[in-house]
Amino acid sequence: MGVFGYIGKSNAVPVLVGGLRKLGFQGYDSTGVAVLEEGRILVAKSAGKLAELEEKLNGRIFASTIGIGHTRWATHGKPSESNAHPHLDCHGDFAVVHNGIIENYFELKEWLIKEGHLFRSETDTEVLPHLIEHFYEGKLETAVRKILTKIEGSYSLIVLSRQDPGTLVAARKNNSLVVGLGEDGYYLASNFSPILQHTKNTYIMEDEEIAVLTREGAHFTDFQGKAKEKILYEISWDPSAAEKDGYDHFMLKEIFEQPKALRDTLAGRLTDEKVVLKEMDLTPEQIAGFNKVAIVGCGTAYHAGLIGRTLIERWAKLPVEVDIASEFRYRTPLIDERTLVVVLSQSGETADTLAGLREAKRLGARIVAITNVVGSSVSREAHDVIYTWAGPEIAIASTKAYTTQIEAMILLALYLTQAKGTMSKEWIREIIAELKKIPDKAGEIFTQVAKVEQLAPLIKEASSAFFIGRGLDWSVALEGSLKLKETSYIHAEAYAAGELKHGTIALVTEETPIIALATQRDLYDKTLSSVNELKAREAKVIGFTFEGNDSFGQSVDEVFYLPETINELAPILTVIPLQLLAYYVSLARGNDVDRPRNLVKSVTVE
Ligand code: G6P
Repeated sequence: MGVFGYIGKSNAVPVLVGGLRKLGFQGYDSTGVAVLEEGRILVAKSAGKLAELEEKLNGRIFASTIGIGHTRWATHGKPSESNAHPHLDCHGDFAVVHNGIIENYFELKEWLIKEGHLFRSETDTEVLPHLIEHFYEGKLETAVRKILTKIEGSYSLIVLSRQDPGTLVAARKNNSLVVGLGEDGYYLASNFSPILQHTKNTYIMEDEEIAVLTREGAHFTDFQGKAKEKILYEISWDPSAAEKDGYDHFMLKEIFEQPKALRDTLAGRLTDEKVVLKEMDLTPEQIAGFNKVAIVGCGTAYHAGLIGRTLIERWAKLPVEVDIASEFRYRTPLIDERTLVVVLSQSGETADTLAGLREAKRLGARIVAITNVVGSSVSREAHDVIYTWAGPEIAIASTKAYTTQIEAMILLALYLTQAKGTMSKEWIREIIAELKKIPDKAGEIFTQVAKVEQLAPLIKEASSAFFIGRGLDWSVALEGSLKLKETSYIHAEAYAAGELKHGTIALVTEETPIIALATQRDLYDKTLSSVNELKAREAKVIGFTFEGNDSFGQSVDEVFYLPETINELAPILTVIPLQLLAYYVSLARGNDVDRPRNLVKSVTVE
């Protein structure tokens, strides 16, 4: 989750440890540093908190003035000392720290093993030092440039070499990396927080850029080697803003991280024609043998499960049940070895969800976990795991975990569909082509943040708000209303738009804001009728739909147009302005956005 590098005049070890403390902030599972001393690369690593690494380093005198460090949030390989960075090549010539995902690491690793390289970890990162070792011909910068042509994925990486003892080489692609220019040396980090305690003067590395730092200076090139002119920025953030990458709250930071989280979750899992889930160990015969799917989760994860139900039923033609995990066991679910149970949990530690998993396992079901935390209890106890690569989620109100859970459900639904052959190859190609565009479309929503901010005053004073929608919009409405209640403490409920008239509409007055979702094209007309019923009761309606739904757009009081996509993928986009709305209403009410009252991030009691 964070890379850090230093080259200068100071003793590197305390600088690196101080940097890692700032980088780690919360949510890392292991740490490590590598320094160059007397012609050798010395490495210290620890699974767990930074204090454990410090303990290991205690009492050891280092005189090195160059080094790299890392705080890890496990992706490939469980949290452990051997999987912690920095990683080395076979002979201890090169050390690498890396953030991101090397999508083609598997093929590279197989090839490197054939070439005689010895791997010591389960990580994707370890291919990097071995690749450098393979391609090194006397200049570190050249070798790094060469390996970048071989790797696919996202990365910010820093390389230390005993062959080039006065140089650090760093590269970035679809990840973040900044350089600090201090009086005592140069600093490299994945965000500003570990740098600001040393200097405010920084260079921001752009995508597909390489930095070469020596004690004499820094030079930057593109991946082809063409020199780049850089502007020196003076950063005025205070250190606490830096921990949040300059955002006021973690919730806002995590909302804005969604395009990246969505991209990472798809990384390496799609070709043009099919979904590739290497982590699933099911044969087509086993898939054909399932007669139903049961989905279990709590809170936001449960809401993602509701979307999974629609997709699996619609595409894979399997009946699906969705349960709130705390209720699952008590209704004596009809589960057996022909049931595929999908357990959804961001943390992987929610007690109710874990209890549901164990009950389903006892009944003989096959368990797939969808979780964000590698090595979590849920991931260890399930038969198969699909990780959401959302990165650590710190704010209590879940945002990027939800959208990546939906993505994981889409991947699973397509995986089952292609194995069962329930939809045509052509159709699968079309969905995949559209799915690949979703991360960018999520990013497009941020051009309209001001519009959402302007909606907050319409809701801020309300004592009650209703979210309505049909089909998948109803599932998203449930999540939108949960976000609003969690962060703003306004009573918010979600209703299937058609059900409102059977009772709840009695509560609606001109004081009741209604958030109406209409992204399911086949249901436009029906949702419009519900909106008209509400308008007749003087309600104020805020609509979310696509361009072209003119009658809806004209009927509501305020309308937000989402980037176009197909019905089934719309939930990922629809929820983003609802997350922003909850954020701005909470802010307007002066609440503690990241730590709402009475809530915790992960509930480990039943
Ligand atoms: C808590 C959190 C929710 C979350 C739920 C399930 O209640 O406050 O945001 O959705 O737990 O958590 P999980 O980690 O299992 O997804």
